[in-house]
Amino acid sequence: MIKIVNVVGARPQFIKYFAVLQAIRKFNETYANTFNNILIHTGQHYDYKMSKIFFDELGINEPVYHLGVGSGSHGEQTAQIIQRVEVALKESKPDVVLVYGDTNSTLGTAISAVKLNIKVVHIESGLRSFNKCMAEEVNRILVDQVSTLLFCPSKTAVNNLESEGFKNILDGGKRTKLNNSLQIYNDMICPTDRNKAVVINVGDVMYDVLLRAVNIAQKKSTILQKLKLNSSEFYLLTLHRAETTDNIEKLNNIIAFINDNFIDEKIIFPMHPRIKKVFESYKHKLNFDIKFIEPLGYLDMLMLMKNSKLLMTDSGGMQKEAFWLKKPCITMRDETEWVETVESGWNVLYKDFKSSHIPTDKNLDCYGDGNASDRIVSYIKSYCDKSDL
Ligand code: UD1
Repeated sequence: MIKIVNVVGARPQFIKYFAVLQAIRKFNETYANTFNNILIHTGQHYDYKMSKIFFDELGINEPVYHLGVGSGSHGEQTAQIIQRVEVALKESKPDVVLVYGDTNSTLGTAISAVKLNIKVVHIESGLRSFNKCMAEEVNRILVDQVSTLLFCPSKTAVNNLESEGFKNILDGGKRTKLNNSLQIYNDMICPTDRNKAVVINVGDVMYDVLLRAVNIAQKKSTILQKLKLNSSEFYLLTLHRAETTDNIEKLNNIIAFINDNFIDEKIIFPMHPRIKKVFESYKHKLNFDIKFIEPLGYLDMLMLMKNSKLLMTDSGGMQKEAFWLKKPCITMRDETEWVETVESGWNVLYKDFKSSHIPTDKNLDCYGDGNASDRIVSYIKSYCDKSDL
């Protein structure tokens, strides 16, 4: 049996993990007890609406380890994660550790694992904003450097890694049918050199989840009724990144942009705790009809996005979700890692916004076919079978 530890800590990671968990469950049903799956929650996010709500609505089991790291400066938080994850990994002794995205939980875990000589599997590898002032950009670069299996969501991500010197690249964007997948993938992964990282374009696990969740959200979510909203009568806004919320000049620019372009419009704003703290001073300066609400779970957020006229966000995940839902998005940042969404016209950086922007169907399949997590699990199996870990 292959022992895998998954480490999550922040909101988007619960969603990404859910996709992989489904694939692990499916794999274990077909090939009994292939994986012993252990979940660690670092505790980076801890409020009910930032964490537990996702476990409840997605049906994710309680983590085996809850490390209770909590908030702190980047150094403090990452250091706590390194220390506490190390203890959990020493006890659980996995074959591989799966980390997701680009948060401090991702970085801390990758450092702990690699120093214990445990292979790191990075899901959502290869993204680059080319802005090292972003904590997430630094996290991604460092995590990719110490990972052994680098699962990319897109060809762009593979290209980024290739230009950083990664050479062992499989599946240059070609999709392989999953029938007999094990056979196919076994042939592809030959980890003869244990130090050699393998880069694979599998598609985006968030797309896997979205495809399955939209119908469920439609049935279960009552957010539109709760907020008394009609479809297409409102805009949706989210801001949470430190590079936005902790930079007064940037925040001023963003508010001025919304004031200029959305006068008197109804805007729904689910507030991450970070922005809640700083937004008080802006409340009397707004030209639009804003409704502040608490952070939302995944299903409610999908429903709001699906029914909004347009999304404004600094979130990475939501840019793609808008793209998949064919909802126009304005990204409230100076650059984005998700360049395909911009090329298609569904997404635009706020500095480039013109009231008429024309979405196309270009790139619609650039993030895979909704089977990224099945591929990931299958590749891990074939890697572990071939490698003397
Ligand atoms: C983190 C990730 C970011 C991701 C985001 C998703 C890093 C560097 N950033 O940012 O990439 O997009 O999660 O939401 O890891 N807080 C609470 N309750 C909570 C969690 C946080 O009140 O449950 C408050 C605290 O004041 C904390 C602040 O929010 O200081 C920021 O939280 P933190 O975990 O540092 O990072 P995020 O901004 O959420």
